[in-house]
Amino acid sequence: MSLHHLLSIADLERRQLRALLDRAQELRHQALGGTGLRGTLQGRTVCPLFFEASTRTRSSFMLAATRLGADVLPFEVANSSGKKGETAIDTMRTLEAMGVDCFVVRTAIDGELRALVAAAKPETRFINAGDGRSNHPTQGLLDMLTIRQHKGMDFSRLNVVIAGDILHSRVARSGLQALKILGCGEIRVCGPDSLMPSDGTLDGCKHLSRFDEAVAGADVVMMLRLQRERMEQGLVGSSESYFNDYGLDPRRLALAAPDAIVMHPGPMNRGVEIADAVADGDQSVIFEQVSNGVSVRMAVLQAVFAA
Ligand code: CP
Repeated sequence: MSLHHLLSIADLERRQLRALLDRAQELRHQALGGTGLRGTLQGRTVCPLFFEASTRTRSSFMLAATRLGADVLPFEVANSSGKKGETAIDTMRTLEAMGVDCFVVRTAIDGELRALVAAAKPETRFINAGDGRSNHPTQGLLDMLTIRQHKGMDFSRLNVVIAGDILHSRVARSGLQALKILGCGEIRVCGPDSLMPSDGTLDGCKHLSRFDEAVAGADVVMMLRLQRERMEQGLVGSSESYFNDYGLDPRRLALAAPDAIVMHPGPMNRGVEIADAVADGDQSVIFEQVSNGVSVRMAVLQAVFAA
């Protein structure tokens, strides 16, 4: 399995997506502390270039690269010459000139990542760690790996609900792309009308207005963070009314299939889109998603360096 870049799940064929998941599954023991693969990316240099905050994605990429033996340049945009006005492209080219082979990029600006790729040397690799509201491909992969571990390889039998702030969610876009590529049986989406995109993202999905109806009989309930920092005022009301209409609490979860799993990409707004009792309950796989993030990112790093 080889890829020059990973910019979007939509660029992957089903066999490539499955191969990445298979490799991540093989790597999961090494991902959580193994040292046996330290020679794999020896001599390679990986740099997280995060223009937006992150806990899970940045840390897990750094761990993944370290466990594969790459040099990791722990660059911090907040303490960089970006503060003096240096552009993102000049920042990338400066680090590239120091020998960085692969950039893991997070940006708030849709399109900025592709501009960085266009400005880089052809041999430099790029992995998308979240761009604007467009893509978060490694989150999509780790979500699919988590579903597969609990529900098996056959996605055609599954009923998956994605609920909440889909409009601003790159997690939802990458998840929807992956579910469609893997042939998911039914994808239901639910959230306030003001947070439903009208750009074709939801093509092929069943849009349900009432959350109780959306959750009924579901195998997987994927909750999304309400991204108030990306919103114009007035898109949603109070946190209390949002939780009342679209929050996942134990009563609603009881409407899903008895063995349904609950997912959330994090960070969670507890008490806004998800109740503590659900986030910390027996059906929650939220911290398994985090663990799977390390092995998925190892698999992706191996794939880009295999090209
Ligand atoms: N899920 C996710 O992208 O989390 P971070 O913002 O903490 O990386």
